[in-house]
Amino acid sequence: MPVVEIKKNIYWVGVVDWNLHNFHGYSLAPKGTTYNAFLVLDDKITLFDTVPEKFKLDLYHQIQQLIKITDINYIVVNHVEPDHSGALPFIIEKSQPEKVFCSTMGQKALLSHYHQENWPLEVVTNNDKLSLGKKTVLFMETRMLHWPDSMFSFIPEDKLLISNDAFGQNIASSFRFDDEVNLDELLFEAKHYYANIILPYSALVQKTLAEVAKQGWDIDMIAPDHGFIWRSHVKEILAAYQEFSLQKLKPKAVIVYDSMWQSTEKMAKAIAEGLQKENVSVRLMSLKTYHHSDVMGEVMDAAAVICGSPTHNNGILPLMADFLTYMKGLKPTNRIGAAFGSFGWSGEAPKIIASILEQAKFELPVEPIKVKHVPTHEDLKKCKEMGETLAKAIKQKVN
Ligand code: FEO
Repeated sequence: MPVVEIKKNIYWVGVVDWNLHNFHGYSLAPKGTTYNAFLVLDDKITLFDTVPEKFKLDLYHQIQQLIKITDINYIVVNHVEPDHSGALPFIIEKSQPEKVFCSTMGQKALLSHYHQENWPLEVVTNNDKLSLGKKTVLFMETRMLHWPDSMFSFIPEDKLLISNDAFGQNIASSFRFDDEVNLDELLFEAKHYYANIILPYSALVQKTLAEVAKQGWDIDMIAPDHGFIWRSHVKEILAAYQEFSLQKLKPKAVIVYDSMWQSTEKMAKAIAEGLQKENVSVRLMSLKTYHHSDVMGEVMDAAAVICGSPTHNNGILPLMADFLTYMKGLKPTNRIGAAFGSFGWSGEAPKIIASILEQAKFELPVEPIKVKHVPTHEDLKKCKEMGETLAKAIKQKVN
């Protein structure tokens, strides 16, 4: 990939991972991602973040397009997760930098990842300033956004915030900037990224946005470590993060299910009919078709998540177990839940689902529904009524 000057003497030197389709359980198919790294050319030549180990030579060649790797003076590690630090041992070995800057937790994480006691690590914390010559770097720890080591680097002379994972999107592209693609699609991807990476830390997003405002940082470019760089829509992505982190809900329900012989699917459609009758928007998502991370993207603004599985060996189907585990870990708050499913002879599935939803702190305004074998017209009527009752609870919640 060609390097790109994003600000005067600041270059994108990252790599594009066109073929990554699963990022520890987050489906990136079919779009892939990028790992953004940035090189500042100043009196102290400084590299911000690296890339996965398997792309270390790509990063090396990117850097060598601009300077000799041995010209690097400083490296800043905003985040230790291996998609941003995997190439660090190689780059340190090649460049022999004077200093490697990281947060307190970053130092611990680097030592426990790479076991290199002799690296020239230097801890920085909130309000620390690092002069590179004409440019300065201000640091802000963003603990648990989304790892304990995470931090922001802000270059005030360029109004540039290097934000590590925050504000990212998983999209592989030959373009680098937000104004080179459709904004709605970009915000859609940012929402899905938030749902799958940032959602459990929403309270910290609120705190961080407030801290950035308090610092009075004048930001006209946000460069995350994944996806497009925000230069024309900074206000929009900041507003979107406010909205995402407040978990603002719409009169919308996601009906997510797996089915063996279409009985649970028939129930799902009948519940959807009841919701639609009451003017609640519905997304019907079969887990055979949709990956759990795609469903989470829809859960982001949905007031209700209605989950269905037939009973299988006295339990729930594996895809539903997978989805519930994934969603519970992402901790969506203030949502309504409900459970349904068909059965042959024992019928435990809806109660199991309801119990998991309760553990995940969902409100359950209706009892789980189960239907033996194939739903009758009467059974479907009950499902439809369930949808109507849920619709009323949803409208009450969002109004
Ligand atoms: Fe992109 Fe938390 O790593």
